Formats: sequence, C-alpha cells, structure tokens
Amino acid sequence: MDLPSSLPDDADRGSLDRRQFLRLAAATTAVGSAAAAGAAVVSAATRVTTPPPNLYPLRLAPVLDPTASRVSLTPAPTTFDIGGATASGLGFNSSVPGPLFTVADGTTATIDVTNGLADPTTVHWHGLVVPTASDGQPHDTIAARGSRTYTLPIDQRASLNWYHPHPHLKTGSQVALGLTGLFIIRDAEESALGLPSGAYELPIVLRDYSVDKKLALTYSSKSAGYLGTAALANGTRSAFHLVNKAVYRLRLLNSSNARVFTLRLSNSASFTLIGNDGGLLASPVSTTEITLGPAERVDVLVDLRSATQSVHLRDASTGWSLVEFRLRSGASTIAYPGTPSTLSSITALTGERRTRTFTFDGMTQINGMLFDMTTPAFTVPRAEVERWVFTTGGNGPHPVHVHGASFQVQSRTGGRGTVFPWERGWKDTVLLNDGERVEVLIRFDLEGRFMIHCHKLEHEDGGMMMAFLVGPSTATATATPSASSAPGPTGAASSTASHHHGG
Ligand code: C2O
Ligand code: CU
Ligand code: CU
Repeated sequence: MDLPSSLPDDADRGSLDRRQFLRLAAATTAVGSAAAAGAAVVSAATRVTTPPPNLYPLRLAPVLDPTASRVSLTPAPTTFDIGGATASGLGFNSSVPGPLFTVADGTTATIDVTNGLADPTTVHWHGLVVPTASDGQPHDTIAARGSRTYTLPIDQRASLNWYHPHPHLKTGSQVALGLTGLFIIRDAEESALGLPSGAYELPIVLRDYSVDKKLALTYSSKSAGYLGTAALANGTRSAFHLVNKAVYRLRLLNSSNARVFTLRLSNSASFTLIGNDGGLLASPVSTTEITLGPAERVDVLVDLRSATQSVHLRDASTGWSLVEFRLRSGASTIAYPGTPSTLSSITALTGERRTRTFTFDGMTQINGMLFDMTTPAFTVPRAEVERWVFTTGGNGPHPVHVHGASFQVQSRTGGRGTVFPWERGWKDTVLLNDGERVEVLIRFDLEGRFMIHCHKLEHEDGGMMMAFLVGPSTATATATPSASSAPGPTGAASSTASHHHGG
C-alpha cells in the first residue's frame, strides 16, 4: 500500500511532532496491511471504512445554567489544550469552545459580558429569539474593557443554539480565533421522549482551523471565505471519545467561518436525524449523509450497540476524521427503548401576505447593497407570514441566516433541486448554492431590529448583511416590493404567537 496516499488528511501533519507522526504512520500501515491480507484488492473504500485511530480525547465544555444564577462571560486571549499540546487563541472564560449554557424554556438568562479583547465585540445568541437590546448586533458593541449585561428571556422550544461575537468587520477573525459556544434549550416535550442523555448526549462544535508554528490559531481574511487546514471538535484536534455500546445523541454545530461539512459515519451506517437549528423534527429520518454549512446544527442519534470497532464521524468532502468513537475496554451494552416515531408537532406556516426577494450578489452585497449599519432596509409587520426568496448570482455557497425568527424551507429549485431532511422543521440558516433559489416562509413574533446576512463570515464582514425592522402588525402594511399579497386571514398567527417557532 502506498503510504503517503493512505495517510489521512486530518493527520494535521504540520503540527504533529515527529514521534506522533511516526505513530500515526505506523497505525496507518498496520491497518493497510491487515486490509491487504484480507482482500485481493485494497480499494479506496477499504481505507475509508478503517481509518487510523485519532490521538486526543475529545474535550467537553464546562456546563453552566445562566438562569439559576447570573453568570459572567469574558471573551479574551487564552491558551487551551488543542490535543497533546497547548495552543493559543481567543476563548470565553478561558475555554475553547466557551461554556455550554443549558436552560429550560420559560426562564430568563442573565449573562454579564466583560470584553477582554483589544477590539470592540458583541455576543450574539444565534438561534435565540430575544429582544434587539440583547441580540448582540454590530451596531451595539461592547468597547474593549467595557461590559454589559445580556438579558435573555427564553420563550422557545427545545433546541441547540450557539453564541459568537458579531462586531462589524471583526466577526470573521474573532470567531476563527476561538470565540464560539453552545446554548441548549430544554423543554417538557423533549424530556418526555427519553432520548439519550447524560454521558450519552454529546454536544460537539465542529470547525476547521489553522495554526502557526507556535500553535497560535491564525486567521487570514479571504473574501471568498476562510478555510482552515484541519478539523477541531470541541477545540480538540484528532479527537476520540471512549464509548459504550449504546445509542449516542450528537448535538452538532458547524462553527466554521466558511467550510461546509459532508457528515458521514466510517462504517457507512445511518444517522437517525431527529432535529436541526430550531429543534426537533416532526419525526426521525434515517440518512447516511448530512450536509452541514456554517452556523447550521443537527441533532442525530448514532447507534453503537453492535459496534465491534471504532466508528468515526467523518467529513466526506476532505476525508477528515472529526471524532472517533472508540469502544472503551470492557464496554458495556446499554439498552435503548427506541426512538419514538413522533418527536414533535410542527405547525406549518400558511397564509402568506407578501413575498420579498433577496439576492446574494458578489461577495459583499444583498440586493445590490452593502451593509448599512445605521439604516434598516425595510420593515416587516409582526405576526404576518411572508415568503422570503433567496437567490444568488454566484460565489456560493451562501449560508443565509435570519435573526429574530425561525423559518420553514418550502423549496429549492436549480442546483441541488431538493429540500433535504435536515432542512425540514424550523431553521434559521439555510445553504444557498450557486444556481439555486431557496424559498422559505417566515413570521416574526417580536418587534424590533433584526438582521439577514450571509453566514460565510468573510461575506458577512464584507457587507453581505442587512438590518430590518419588525413593526406592529397591521392589515394594511405599508408599501413593500410585494410580488404577491395573498389575503391571508387576519390574526392567522395568533394561536401560536405566544411561543416562538410555533411550539
Ligand atoms: Cu450567527 Cu447574525 O449570526
Ligand atoms: Cu443569528
Ligand atoms: Cu455568502
């Protein structure tokens, strides 16, 4: 077997020391020889299904409940264990990723942020529907050494959200250098399902990264989007996690600035997809591959009950092993009662009042306009369903994200031409590839100032971002560039308006 071509791309050769490199190379060779002994032809597929072992234990972020007592959150330069070595970057409370916040629906989180960076920053709670004053938008920064309190009323179904800085022109660098954390909301509907919990629920931040010779995270702004050279899972390179023979619930975020992951399991088994950005799907879906763009989340079950060897979560686009799930010695088999065939009820948005079109042009514009931080571009009446249409002239993929509400994807025409299982239910970010037209239905229940932007952070920093207002609900909304104004029933949203995402 040809050794160089059989080395995994995720070996992160640049930052492994020589001994680690040789160990990895030896492991690869052993795997290759074993495969060769058992088969006349060693195919590429054989290598895919028997990746070499990863090197470092997956780190789990500290867990905090900011509704039980107020918590302090400090973004600042820090060192962290990147796996077998100390790296440096930016962390929240010296942690990369930052603390995992878990809260219950119906509570209020209070988080005191002190800016320990040399630049202004904000903290945006991506996926949370919270008032403008706590949304952490670019016009509302915390000065270097300054502080502010974010008050987050949680009125939202169970879901995996996240937080990150959002200062104008600096989001790409602050996120790439390490500032990201997860924010989980729980509710009674989800708890009643008996999904894997405790050690069997693993929240994992996936991203790409680059480091310099001293293992400092690096960032270079490229207008087409910053791509790192290897993968981190919860800030750990070449990560493994010791498991029992059990069903695991993986809560996955792609926090990359620009990279789209193609998630697969090394044993070709299916994921049981149970949720995404806005929480649980109506019912579980089995799929062997998931495309996860920047800022998107998925909630999947992985069944390791009959595993006899490691199963790797892989990015099929690069061949990287993101996390190896390695059977602990003497692994016990844990019974699992099965996943309910109904997870949640998703009330379909209907009765749209008007259509708005957003074209993601070049690498810096929406509808031909650069981001204007002072003037919101349009006003949406609260509690009215609208059809939003996303198109692009190129430079995709554009992960299109909206603050202030989740949406339901209706169609994708052109390009990949379909709505994927992980795009059902409630979403706040959707991938728009070149040649595609994606249509969503959306309804805002909270008045205030919110945003739409590309979540490829270099496009966002470049100006592919727009602020808008959500104003009072009115049957005679002021003139909009309306293509269709279906006369939907007045107050169509009233039955679910009190609970974001339709409950
Ligand atoms: Cu995750 Cu406006 O951002
Ligand atoms: Cu957001
Ligand atoms: Cu973009």
